[in-house]
Amino acid sequence: TDTSVSFRVNGKMQHIDLPPNVVLLDALRDRLGLTGTKKGCDHGQCGACTVLVNGEAVNSCLALAVVHDGDDITTVEGLADGDDLAPLQAAFLEHDAYQCGYCTPGQLMSATELLTNENIGVNDADVKEAMSGNICRCGAYKNILAAIQHTRR
Ligand code: FES
Repeated sequence: TDTSVSFRVNGKMQHIDLPPNVVLLDALRDRLGLTGTKKGCDHGQCGACTVLVNGEAVNSCLALAVVHDGDDITTVEGLADGDDLAPLQAAFLEHDAYQCGYCTPGQLMSATELLTNENIGVNDADVKEAMSGNICRCGAYKNILAAIQHTRR
């Protein structure tokens, strides 16, 4: 039987009924049409599915949707303000911080968290460590790092 879940996604309350075994990633993509969040490995290994839950970066492929009843969720669709890109998104563009782009939504969400998390250091090594859960098969790491550090300045 379905379970009701209510959460705020990109500032808008959503109420959905879904089987208790549905993960947050599938709820966002298939039920809410928010396909910016990507499914890569589906096993918590690649970071493509990263969203923010109450400001914290989470692999949405591992999180059951019903567990997040009442939570505040931000996906990549929630970063821009209308046609205005968030500074981090603009920096990714400016620094060519992607090639195929498949990992980019997850990279952006993890970077969004790290830019607001005072417990994460500001050196390149700290940023690399904080971003280590986000795999880029094209190897755009150098430019991703440059984009993040540019946004901080
Ligand atoms: Fe979730 Fe890879 S799809 S970590």
